[in-house]
Amino acid sequence: MSLGAIMDKDTINHKNERFYIRAKQQGYRARSAYKLFEIQKKYNIFKRAFYILDIGSAPGSWLQVAKKFAEENLTKYQDRHYHREEYKILGVDIKKISPIEQVDTMRLDITNPSSIIKIQTFLEGEKFDLVLSDASIKKSGNKFSDQVRQVKLCLKILDILYLLKSKGNLVIKLFQGEDFKRVHHTMKDKFHFVKSYKPRASSKKSNEIYVIGLNKK
Ligand SMILES: C[S@@+](CC[C@H](N)C(=O)[O-])C[C@H]1O[C@@H](n2cnc3c(N)ncnc32)[C@H](O)[C@@H]1O
Repeated sequence: MSLGAIMDKDTINHKNERFYIRAKQQGYRARSAYKLFEIQKKYNIFKRAFYILDIGSAPGSWLQVAKKFAEENLTKYQDRHYHREEYKILGVDIKKISPIEQVDTMRLDITNPSSIIKIQTFLEGEKFDLVLSDASIKKSGNKFSDQVRQVKLCLKILDILYLLKSKGNLVIKLFQGEDFKRVHHTMKDKFHFVKSYKPRASSKKSNEIYVIGLNKK
């Protein structure tokens, strides 16, 4: 291994460790929290977000971040424009999510039609203001097939966007590769503004990237 490669690896590890320590100190369950903070800073996705769905939530750091902004929004947006008196956050994952006060969680597979019925029951006829998805398939190590499986998962998630209100926002995780453009195009049909973004807190080693859709048509 060249010295350059070793140094690069050290830099990556150091950066990951820095976010990991920060998460521990600030009480976040994972360093992924900072990816969402960066996305918020750049795109203001939480603007007027009161009803939020987080897909692939375990262990729960995005839920912690979502709760922080939803709570702030209750007082921040008390005007004649879109506002709600309460917030509702739902986190779903195949894995168990340890409880977070005032946040609802369900253990389910988002690709399963019966899961959608459960989410609709939770919504009681309402719609989400914001849908987040950090869900990722279990990687096999084969970059090509992993990317195809991740795209498939994302397209399933895009199929349930009728649960998102018009003018609502979406953040979804993808892996860079061939089919990436397919998701990007599908999103362009559904949102007025679509951008891809790789937060600094996302490991350089990982090919993950987030697609942000603002202002649903
Ligand atoms: C990177 S983790 C999410 C981390 C989380 N955002 C946080 O900040 O704590 C990805 C999660 O997606 C979940 N997942 C993958 N496929 C899923 C599916 N079909 N339905 C629900 N969750 C899924 C995995 O179980 C895993 O917990």
